[in-house]
Amino acid sequence: MMSIQPYGGLRHHLLLLFLGLIIPASLSKEIKCHPDDLKALLRIKAAFGNPYTLASWTGTNCCSWYCVECKSTNHRINQLTIFDTELSGQIPDAVGDLPYLEMIDLNNLSNVTGPIPAVLGKLKRLNFLRLNYLNLTGSIPPSLGQLKQLTLLDVNNNQLTGRIPRELTGLSKLYVLDLSSNQLCGKIPVGGKLQAMPPSSYSNNKCLCGAPLQSCK
Ligand SMILES: *[C@@H]1O[C@H](CO)[C@@H](O)[C@H](O)[C@H]1NC(C)=O
Ligand SMILES: *[C@@H]1O[C@H](CO)[C@@H](O)[C@H](O)[C@H]1NC(C)=O
Ligand SMILES: *[C@@H]1O[C@H](CO)[C@@H](O)[C@H](O)[C@H]1NC(C)=O
Repeated sequence: MMSIQPYGGLRHHLLLLFLGLIIPASLSKEIKCHPDDLKALLRIKAAFGNPYTLASWTGTNCCSWYCVECKSTNHRINQLTIFDTELSGQIPDAVGDLPYLEMIDLNNLSNVTGPIPAVLGKLKRLNFLRLNYLNLTGSIPPSLGQLKQLTLLDVNNNQLTGRIPRELTGLSKLYVLDLSSNQLCGKIPVGGKLQAMPPSSYSNNKCLCGAPLQSCK
């Protein structure tokens, strides 16, 4: 009986060695995808009506899908980029359920309508938010002021209305702001980086006023 122990131990050892060689090789081919990210992306695809543009969004290996990128360190979705294609519908709240997003870039999609979802304010790692040349309506959600890492906020050429929310003065890392060619109105809130932006950041709106534009009447 005693002599079987080392033999069994060796076999166990060889099995571990075998698995140790095989498993990493197969994993490196199949990039992982977090199940929560997978679920959110499939909800986004469904919300846009399963368009041809997102036809690659099938199976479980979401890091290899078109229009998204995964961060190499944790295999979480960190970029969503869709442009110049036929996509219609509203930006779904499911985008707010991709917590590792650092970049959202949706541009030149004239059939994307409806509001900027307030839940985008949950995306604490977001540093780049471009939603331009869409047909977005409604007002800029105050929750965007929670995006403390944001360096670029570009929503030019939409149909956005209302005032610029005061909360945007809290975006201390903002480097590029483009709210031009919308229908925004009212006094530009004073504070943060909002007065450091060029007047062109605010141009071609309905009735914006105050620095860096001319003072309100
Ligand atoms: C916008 O997208 C359309 C295709 O949907 C393309 O034909 C057009 O050139 C794009 N416009 C710009 C300015 O890129
Ligand atoms: C927008 O929708 C209209 C009507 O459904 C369609 O004819 C047009 O091709 C769409 N344009 C784009 C760029 O998706
Ligand atoms: C979308 O915007 C374009 C201009 O960018 C405009 O010509 C078009 O009528 C708009 N479509 C809708 C559905 O609002």
